[in-house]
Amino acid sequence: YGDYNQKIDYVFKVVLIGDSAVGKSQLLARFARNEFNVDSKATIGVEFQTKTLVIDNKTVKSQIWDTAGQERYRAVTSAYYRGAVGAMLVYDMTKRQSFDNMERWLEELRGHADTNIVIMLIGNKCDLANLRAVPTEDAQEFAQRESLFFMETSALESTNVETAFFTALIQIY
Ligand code: GTP
Ligand code: MG
Repeated sequence: YGDYNQKIDYVFKVVLIGDSAVGKSQLLARFARNEFNVDSKATIGVEFQTKTLVIDNKTVKSQIWDTAGQERYRAVTSAYYRGAVGAMLVYDMTKRQSFDNMERWLEELRGHADTNIVIMLIGNKCDLANLRAVPTEDAQEFAQRESLFFMETSALESTNVETAFFTALIQIY
């Protein structure tokens, strides 16, 4: 693969947060390995994957952390956010509650992360267009008010997944 002696210019830690079952782990699987698992199990504790990209002729290694949306499976909060330079705030566009909870996730994020952290709001499962419960405009408005980047994605159909991570990483860089 020729990867073993690759010089890494930057390592960026990015965290995924949002309610259980919104698709955080599958977004990560799609981005890091181009995989999707329909029988995805709820995450317990913390997992991470890395993906190395070239931005501006620099080798950027992104280290993406994924934790449980369910409170009882979550790991130590402060350790999860420590050193993060990017955050993907994920809701399921077919579940209004998961969008309404973004406020609380954002509050937790802002309480623990660095003030300069780049935040991307993600409305996942856009393949389920006929089940949409969150209008694009609602999310855009929220993103604008809170100074977040925003994108609608589908981990299943691979829509905007690379673009979302890339956009965040470019902002960090
Ligand atoms: P926790 O680990 O419990 O916090 O959940 P999670 O946010 O990691 O959700 P996960 O990635 O495990 O996905 C939950 C369910 O949604 C699984 O059945 C996935 O197959 C499904 N799913 C994830 N992304 C998509 C998507 O883009 N479209 C559709 N239709 N289903 C998806
Ligand atoms: Mg998960």
